[in-house]
Amino acid sequence: MAARKKTPTRKRREAPEKRPEETRLHIDTRNMYRGAGVDGVATADLDAVAEQLRGAHRALSAGSRGGLEAEYACLNLPQAMAAALPEIGRAAAAIRRHRDVLVLGIGGSSLGARAVYEALRPGAPRAGGPRLHFLENIDPDYVAELVRRLRPEATALICISKSGGTLETVVQYLILRRWLEQSLGPAAARRRQWLITDPAAGWLRALAARAKIAALPVPPKVGGRYSVLSAVGLLPLAVAGDDVAALLRGAAENAARCATDDVRQNPALEIAALHYLLDVRKGRRTLVMMPYANPLRLFADWFCQLWAESLGKRTGAGAPAGTMPVRALGAVDQHSQLQMYLESRPDKMFTFVALARWERDLAIPLAETEKDVFPFLADKKLGDVMDAEFRATRAVITEAGHPNMTVTLDTLNAHAMGQLIDLYQRATIYAGLLYGVNPLDQPAVEKGKLQARRFLENNGRR
Ligand code: PA5
Repeated sequence: MAARKKTPTRKRREAPEKRPEETRLHIDTRNMYRGAGVDGVATADLDAVAEQLRGAHRALSAGSRGGLEAEYACLNLPQAMAAALPEIGRAAAAIRRHRDVLVLGIGGSSLGARAVYEALRPGAPRAGGPRLHFLENIDPDYVAELVRRLRPEATALICISKSGGTLETVVQYLILRRWLEQSLGPAAARRRQWLITDPAAGWLRALAARAKIAALPVPPKVGGRYSVLSAVGLLPLAVAGDDVAALLRGAAENAARCATDDVRQNPALEIAALHYLLDVRKGRRTLVMMPYANPLRLFADWFCQLWAESLGKRTGAGAPAGTMPVRALGAVDQHSQLQMYLESRPDKMFTFVALARWERDLAIPLAETEKDVFPFLADKKLGDVMDAEFRATRAVITEAGHPNMTVTLDTLNAHAMGQLIDLYQRATIYAGLLYGVNPLDQPAVEKGKLQARRFLENNGRR
């Protein structure tokens, strides 16, 4: 045997250390394109809007310059908030001394944190740390029952409102502040409160200054539904013991992945372009987001709010923009909505969100007598059945010609959630630019807020 040639001892460059939790989202858009019976986007249609897409990318890049002063400051939160983590960590440590934490806030000031909170707790709340209660709605029975079960001396309160004056959040706060004060007195009640709001404006900010209540800022240029990576999401998640640094890292990595104006290399731009073209060229007006995992149900709600409130507008020329986002949950909604998806109007497109593996899986035990009845379940686990359900739904939707895409997460962790958040915030802003609407405002929501106030002023009369 020939002696092995001695390779010169070259110093091998160490590969950068990869944290175990850090994996990339897999984004499969193949079924969004025309072909194999799918009524999707023709590549020629995508090429025809190439200049518009490059323009959207230029506008997003220009609007992201300037850190937290930028128009799209939300896209700079991963870097900007890294510096604020020690302060958030200190506040979280103080709040974690309580048994229960009430998190007040509605819409964008609640959904993002709840979505990540739920995503990171597959199956059940994690042991240890306080219990978080996201109130969001003002259902009187729910609020009454919640406080009946809690002890004020073991409860902290985080009140979140960017504007500092949203009616639902203000009334929740007033009721719960009084509940704390009645048992503990005003000074101790104040020490159990943390406010998250605009750094200068609004009723909550003025209250924080006047009553000396601990308060963290929401950067002025960051609006509710884009604020999950600010203190709005980071403080509750840090209180819950979640890895907020990994969340920010995941978002930053997705941002780097979306840095190019090449639509085929930039997943956020591609998602925006495909959904936009499917709407304006193909009349696909409903966008169904269907995760196949319970912990991602609220992520789909967060996405629906982001997409609807950002894009459901009139363009400068008065044309309606945006597509209707709908949340479905696999496998449950196969037994309800799927009928409509497959056979009703062909005006829908789909995003499936799937997990590559389950943290814990369960074997399906078959008694001897059952092996003949369910031979296809031999040696199968529950995760295999979920996977089959997902693939089957995707297959029948594709066969019916409906465009669809799939985002797969290797692991359901903070790093993956950070990527998802940046991906969809970015895609939503690109889509706003393509439609020609401002994805950051919400004039109709403001109208509703004003009208509710008027009803109260007029005791229920318009
Ligand atoms: O995204 C938005 O702007 C809204 O959903 C707001 O988050 C919601 O209306 C609550 O507003 P605020 O944070 O000012 O209380």
